[in-house]
Amino acid sequence: MKRDFLSVIDFSAAELRANIHLAAELKAKAKQGIFPDVLKKGVGALIFHKQSLRTRASFEVAFHQLGGSAVYITDKEIELGKRESIADVARVMSRFFKVICIRTYSHSDVEELARWSDVPVVNMLTDLLHPCQLMADMLTILEHRGTIDHLRVTYMGDGNNMTNSWMRMAQRIPMRLTVGTSPDTLPDMGIFKETNDAGLSEVIIEHDPVRAVQDADVIYTDVWASMGAKDKIDEQIRRLSPYQVNLDLVKHAKKDVTIMHCLPAERGREITGEVMDLPNTVVFDEAENRLHAQKAILVKLLEG
Ligand code: CP
Ligand code: NVA
Repeated sequence: MKRDFLSVIDFSAAELRANIHLAAELKAKAKQGIFPDVLKKGVGALIFHKQSLRTRASFEVAFHQLGGSAVYITDKEIELGKRESIADVARVMSRFFKVICIRTYSHSDVEELARWSDVPVVNMLTDLLHPCQLMADMLTILEHRGTIDHLRVTYMGDGNNMTNSWMRMAQRIPMRLTVGTSPDTLPDMGIFKETNDAGLSEVIIEHDPVRAVQDADVIYTDVWASMGAKDKIDEQIRRLSPYQVNLDLVKHAKKDVTIMHCLPAERGREITGEVMDLPNTVVFDEAENRLHAQKAILVKLLEG
């Protein structure tokens, strides 16, 4: 039966761990010029309803390196759900493509696409979740900290698709996850409850920014206004300024704290330029690892 990757919890803990290790293996092989030919000229669809640098580039390169190619499609062409139903789009696309990857607003539209598609569907970001980013982030953490287990991870800033993805990951990988945010910018509280109920990890919401980063192994941040909500930036600045990741705040974390950001960053807002350029800031490794983590996801989905 075909599998989808709409959320990190679509993989079991064992599958997630294996996939992170597969990504590391594929990365090492790629450095030697070795690439598995799993696509055998198969083509992937990349549907984008929002902007992208990293996701589009890394998926296009991934499809190429796995022996296939990709077609970039925007909503101008297909007007998903308007020109024809999502179910019909899914059934037509399944006749051409080996995998359908989509970045859009509504998470339920992606679930609907997956429901009707005969081929795997990959979530390249919705308003709710960004699971491919989290896989690259876990690979990056493994490389820099030698383990992905039992870390103190602090997410600072807007409670958004990245925060929700971290909470989903905490349902599979044990961690202490602190969300440093304001009372008006909370993440999805349903996912928050599910994560704490799952009992593997502890997730805490902390409104005091210094307490939030205390003893953190990892500090993670993201833009204060996500795609689709950029018009809210002024109120978001008012709410989130105390949660900026700057040199003063970072001092309260562990000395060897790893600083992360999915990018694109708005230097001077959620993170200062000085912190972006610290030696323990690993944002460009995260960006590079998108390629290898996604190849691992594609290999897993294509091999069944
Ligand atoms: N991190 C990330 O998904 O970047 P893009 O929006 O540029 O794809
Ligand atoms: N939260 C951001 C992530 C970008 C990769 C957004 O959705 O715009």
